[in-house]
Amino acid sequence: VTAEKGGYDHFMLKEIHEQPRAIRDTLTGRVKGGQADLSREIALSPEELREIERIHFVACGTAYHAGLVGKYVIEELVRIPVEVDVASEYRYRNPILTPRTLVVVVSQSGETADTLAALREAKKAGSRVLAITNVVGSTVAREADDVFITQAGPEIAVASTKAYTSQLIAIYLLGLYLAWIRGTRSEAELAEVVKHLEGLPELAERTLQLEGAVRLLAAEIAKKEDLFYIGRGLDYAVALEGSLKLKEITYIHSEAYTAGELKHGTLALIEEGVPVIALATQTALYDKMVSNIEEVKARGARVLGIALEGDEELHKLADEVLTIPRTLSLLTPVLTVIPLQLLAYHACVARGYDVDKPRNLAKSVTVE
Ligand code: G6P
Repeated sequence: VTAEKGGYDHFMLKEIHEQPRAIRDTLTGRVKGGQADLSREIALSPEELREIERIHFVACGTAYHAGLVGKYVIEELVRIPVEVDVASEYRYRNPILTPRTLVVVVSQSGETADTLAALREAKKAGSRVLAITNVVGSTVAREADDVFITQAGPEIAVASTKAYTSQLIAIYLLGLYLAWIRGTRSEAELAEVVKHLEGLPELAERTLQLEGAVRLLAAEIAKKEDLFYIGRGLDYAVALEGSLKLKEITYIHSEAYTAGELKHGTLALIEEGVPVIALATQTALYDKMVSNIEEVKARGARVLGIALEGDEELHKLADEVLTIPRTLSLLTPVLTVIPLQLLAYHACVARGYDVDKPRNLAKSVTVE
């Protein structure tokens, strides 16, 4: 069993460390001449791709959080309206589906019952369905019109890690491909994003070096019962995923909030010593985040900031700061999530719970 875990104590830790490889493999063969090329994955002609009027991401759990990143990324690069839905809601809410709607179902296993039902609804309505899945030959892969296989490799731990970052890579490639075909960005701009995308495996490797520092912080977090994650823009999407990781395996109550919404309710819960994990990696939103961190600090919160390397300001404000390597703001989620995964992992170990098989949860939920 230790051999299966590649020398790591748990599958989750092994899978966290496999992310640089998973990202690299998911990119392989999908970039040509400095542009993303998904013509092998997506059979639609350039003409048909230009006719798409809206995109729906539909998924559950961690895959849903990847879809949230997808909304920001695709709207930014392609300027098509994007909706993101939890599959169990989507299938029952009579969504507006037309033949010009592209429905992207995201599912690590390709077997999640709600996601599959959503896929079937979309197909019945005549929409085009693209599956982003990790499992070749899964039901979702077989039933979708087009399939993008993430190359994360088998994921065993219930808490999803490398599947999520691989899904993000698939989403970036989709956004870049659509932007190229539809001409919403210049070739030079797209090539710049592609270049940074190809730099992510190495930066993910560097981000993993935070593990020692994260382990120490996790020992403190493990003693808490409530915790908040705050962020804006893409950092908010990552905050949701970080919060889910912690809940799933440590059973600590945590919530993720858009930092700007704090004043409309959550701020009432901030008192002396409440831990707040503040994500501040989005350059355009940085000053806004700093004010939000000041707000929680003024009420006694204990703040762990996640910032970009070279950040000076947050060090003065937060109690602790972890920094991730610099890349384009659009791409930071791939790196920002890594310390949050490690934090959940080490807090779980510190609490003595079963990392790979948390209570009440299953790796793949194949019944409704
Ligand atoms: C379960 C797993 C989660 C996963 C979700 C969706 O709840 O425990 O880790 O994110 O299902 O799974 P899928 O295979 O569709 O991505």
